[in-house]
Amino acid sequence: MSENVNLETGLRGVPVGYCNTSFVDPQEGLHYKGYPISELAYKEPEEVIYLLLHGSLPSDHQLKAFRQNLSSKMNLNSKIHENIKNFPPNLDPMDKLLMGIMSASAYCKTGDWYEDAISLIAVIPEIVASIYCQSEGILFRLPEKNLDYMENFIHMLGKEKKEETVFFMKAFNILHMDHGGGNLSTFVGKAIASGHADIFQSICGSMAALAGPLHGKANRECFHFIKKTAEEIENIDDEEQVYQYVKGLFEKGKKVYGFGHAVLRVEDPRATIQYKIGEKYAMKDEYFRLAKQLRTAGTRYLSQIEKISNPYPNVDAVSGTLLNFFDIMDERYYTSLFAMSRCIGVAIQIVYERTEAKNGKGTPIIRPKYLYNGPTQN
Ligand code: MLT
Repeated sequence: MSENVNLETGLRGVPVGYCNTSFVDPQEGLHYKGYPISELAYKEPEEVIYLLLHGSLPSDHQLKAFRQNLSSKMNLNSKIHENIKNFPPNLDPMDKLLMGIMSASAYCKTGDWYEDAISLIAVIPEIVASIYCQSEGILFRLPEKNLDYMENFIHMLGKEKKEETVFFMKAFNILHMDHGGGNLSTFVGKAIASGHADIFQSICGSMAALAGPLHGKANRECFHFIKKTAEEIENIDDEEQVYQYVKGLFEKGKKVYGFGHAVLRVEDPRATIQYKIGEKYAMKDEYFRLAKQLRTAGTRYLSQIEKISNPYPNVDAVSGTLLNFFDIMDERYYTSLFAMSRCIGVAIQIVYERTEAKNGKGTPIIRPKYLYNGPTQN
């Protein structure tokens, strides 16, 4: 029986391959190419994408050339919006995102893993912004060559490019780019690509995996929880009231959102960085202050529960409050913002598995074994 301990466990902690972009240490959290995320969070997203692709941070010259490459691919694909304009208006933004990725493939796909990964990275902000504008009935602005990756995104949304909004969006983008090889969306994307489906098809499947509430939709649900909690607590600035609220929820068997992680056993450093950003800009914001109270009171309460292995906040515990504070978009779109960022890591990991792994032969098609436990007929 001992050989079957991994059955129906979600493969939790079972090594299945190599990941050369990032790892998540239970105590130290996320690292990209060996750098702790805290050293990268305030860089330019293009620098971090370059790092994930090439293993080192770019020189000024390399960064300029990389930006030019990305922006040439962005501007090539303005046709994408023409398609998105015709999507059924009331579909969930994540459903539209999957359709948007496949529409983009019509204009970008070459069949080359690396080139297609770069094209996808270049156009994904355009897809997300275009979906937002179509859904909200806002005029979509095409990307501009003189703007950088996230400035262009804010521009395409039709928002003012305020310095702190762009600063936050850059950090948000970097923090969500990659999270090791085994998170659901990354694993699924690589599994699809193992059958040699192309990058666009693989990322479409990967982002479908991200859409679920146990994965990428958690940021949306967490912010909803914070808004509801704010309505139900008389004084959100009173830590004891927040503590009693968390205790009451837990005792009634209800979910306390934004805590715990499959791998981490400390506060998620991606959350720590966002709390710092919020402390600088958003202390007047009721929802951010409540997220901070939950950080303390929630951890204090959940730490006392023996069966909880990680009573600390994760990345979703606070991101929604800042997206709301910086007026990026409403909560329905939060998962598509996570997706816009995570596509980058998944695409780069696919390039490794298809073109570099196993001395360039690529990893084989994923084909695990399931044990039959249905009826026998005799
Ligand atoms: C992620 O960033 O993908 C989430 O934290 C989930 C995970 O790592 O399993």
